[in-house]
Amino acid sequence: MPSSKSVTFILIFINAVALVTSKSTIEPCTNSDSCNALLAYTLYTDLKVSEVASLFQIDPIALLTTNAIDISYPDVENHILPSQLFLKIPITCSCVDGIRKSVSTHYKTRPSDTLSSIADSIYAGLVSADQIKEANSIDDPSVLDVGQSLVVPLPCTCFNGTDNSLPAIYLSYVVKEVDTLAAIAARYETTLTDLMNVNAMGSAAIKAGDILAVPLPACASKFPRYASDFGLIVPNGSYAISASHCVQCSCGPGNLNLYCMPASLAVSCSSMQCRNSNLMLGNVTVQQSSAGCNVTSCSYGGYVNGTIMTTLSTYLQPRCPGKSLINDIHLWEIEIVHSWGHEIL
Ligand SMILES: *[C@@H]1O[C@H](CO)[C@@H](O)[C@H](O)[C@H]1NC(C)=O
Ligand SMILES: *[C@@H]1O[C@H](CO)[C@@H](O)[C@H](O)[C@H]1NC(C)=O
Ligand SMILES: *[C@@H]1O[C@H](CO)[C@@H](O)[C@H](O)[C@H]1NC(C)=O
Ligand SMILES: *[C@@H]1O[C@H](CO)[C@@H](O)[C@H](O)[C@H]1NC(C)=O
Ligand SMILES: *[C@@H]1O[C@H](CO)[C@@H](O)[C@H](O)[C@H]1NC(C)=O
Repeated sequence: MPSSKSVTFILIFINAVALVTSKSTIEPCTNSDSCNALLAYTLYTDLKVSEVASLFQIDPIALLTTNAIDISYPDVENHILPSQLFLKIPITCSCVDGIRKSVSTHYKTRPSDTLSSIADSIYAGLVSADQIKEANSIDDPSVLDVGQSLVVPLPCTCFNGTDNSLPAIYLSYVVKEVDTLAAIAARYETTLTDLMNVNAMGSAAIKAGDILAVPLPACASKFPRYASDFGLIVPNGSYAISASHCVQCSCGPGNLNLYCMPASLAVSCSSMQCRNSNLMLGNVTVQQSSAGCNVTSCSYGGYVNGTIMTTLSTYLQPRCPGKSLINDIHLWEIEIVHSWGHEIL
């Protein structure tokens, strides 16, 4: 139940002079487990893919796949993304002093930077100047050394990777002047009630600068805890690359079952064939039997000690969809991912 999420609102003074208060959704946490989350980020200037990735210290490939950009595009890491482009940034959400927070981002100051320009422009309001000041114990913000490495604490929530018992990944969204809660709900295909529940809001009133947690439907993995990609969660309409860039896992559009197959970039990878079978990762075969239709699939089970784990499973369904139909569905999913990518590029 959303109300049991024990979300609390805290007031943060983002502008000491005007005393403008912004709200931010805080998720209490108890253990040290980290989880995956997203930031809604609008580019402040033209930047290369690799530059945006280094701003958040994330893998450029992860940035591209999260935004459904085709990574087989030539020289894609040097592609220039235009100012004002909206991106989803995949981050690791930790548990620090009892609340969910991302603390893995560091920013190296450049001449003419101020705490406000770093907070409001470069990190697009996802952090405030005061939060950077506090996180780095800065006494006098008017003297920033060029080349100084600053911790940039960023907002994130995970809520156990679920929303109303369905798998979800949470996007930290900075409210803009023109936004209404209803419009945000519509844009992310959720409801006003759900957004209010998730963010523990008593009313639908929002203000520019508030940071909301927006649940996005996602496909969850069920890899064992000892897998290095344990907890992989992929938002609907995008994909992720795992297992040292060997495996590609996509989500949607037809259903929310994570679908993994060998990645197009795969070069030197351990075997992606299911044991005791000639099926490769992602392969599905259907066999008509007297009892119905025997569907066998070879699926990805996580990356363990440099080994790609595979699972062969068979289930019986009453009616055969036909082998070509199953393959068509998967091909269509991959094609959708790629064509979205080209729209962005
Ligand atoms: C988190 O979700 C899992 C299923 O994904 C469930 O088994 C578990 O009870 C949930 N934990 C909490 C604290 O809600
Ligand atoms: C996933 O995305 C597709 C394409 O945008 C959409 O048609 C579908 O309804 C989405 N699924 C869910 C569960 O939101
Ligand atoms: C199995 O998967 C591989 C790699 O994705 C693909 O090339 C091959 O066509 C698939 N075979 C079947 C029978 O689906
Ligand atoms: C499905 O087919 C596989 C391989 O042909 C076979 O081992 C298995 O027993 C079959 N399962 C059912 C439920 O028919
Ligand atoms: C991974 O490898 C290490 C060292 O080789 C071993 O101790 C550990 O048990 C392995 N883990 C798994 C899950 O196989």
